[in-house]
Amino acid sequence: MVWKAHQIGTPLSSLIGWTEILKMENVNPDHIIEIEKDIDRLQTITDRFSKIGSIPTLKNTDIVTETQESYNYLKARSSKLIDFEFVSPNETIHVNLNAQLYSWTIENLVKNAIDAMKGKGQLKIEVLANDKFVHIRVSDSGKGIPKHLFKKIFEPGYTSKKRGWGLGLSLAKRIIEDYHNGRIKVVSSEIDKGTTIQISLKQL
Ligand SMILES: Nc1ncnc2c1ncn2[C@@H]1O[C@H](COP(=O)(O)OP(=O)(O)OP(=O)(O)O)[C@@H](O)[C@H]1O
Ligand SMILES: [Mg+2]
Repeated sequence: MVWKAHQIGTPLSSLIGWTEILKMENVNPDHIIEIEKDIDRLQTITDRFSKIGSIPTLKNTDIVTETQESYNYLKARSSKLIDFEFVSPNETIHVNLNAQLYSWTIENLVKNAIDAMKGKGQLKIEVLANDKFVHIRVSDSGKGIPKHLFKKIFEPGYTSKKRGWGLGLSLAKRIIEDYHNGRIKVVSSEIDKGTTIQISLKQL
C-alpha cells in the first residue's frame, strides 16, 4: 500500500488520541513523552508534504556530508554501549535529496538497529559508491530478521515490538522510493548476528 499525505493524517490524529488515553492510564510518562516526540516529527513531515502539494523539494546535495551529519547527531545522543562506526569515500557524492526527509529516514533505521541490539552492540553506517549509484548501508549486530520477513517489514503496521507502530520502515520506503526514486531493502540479515539495510540513490 502506498500512502498519500492526507492518509497519513488519519492514523496520526488517531495516535494523538491514543496518547491522551494512555495519559489517563497508569503508563510511565517518559514513554508517552517519547511517543509524543515521534508524533511531532511525523506531523512536521506530513505538514511539509501537504504544503508543497505532496512533492517535497529535492536539492543537489552531497550525500557523504549529509550522512555524516546525521551520524554525528545520532551518535552524540545514543548510549555509550553502542559502538558506532562511519565509513565513507573521501570525496563528495551528489544526489537529488530532501535533506530533512533523508535524515529522518537514517534516524529511523538507526533506531530500529538499536532496538534490535537491545541497546548494546555495533552499529555501522557506510556510504559506498559505484559509477551510477550510491549506497548507504546501516548495519547492526542485533537479533536479525528471518528471510521471509525481508519485504513484510516495510508494510505499514508490521511490528514485532510491544510498543511499535510499524510505521518507521513504511515511511522510510515511501520517502526513498516514492520521493527520491531510490530503493531501500534488507541486503543481508542473519538471526542473532545482525542486519544490513541499504538505501540506493542515483548519483547526479
Ligand atoms: N535492524 C533491524 N533488526 C531486526 N529487526 C528489524 C530491524 N529493523 C526493523 N526490524 C523489524 O521490522 C519491524 C518494522 O520496523 P518499523 O520501523 O517499520 O516499525 P517499528 O520499529 O516496529 O515501530 P515504529 O518504527 O513505528 O516505532 C520491527 O518491528 C522489527 O521487527
Ligand atoms: Mg522503527
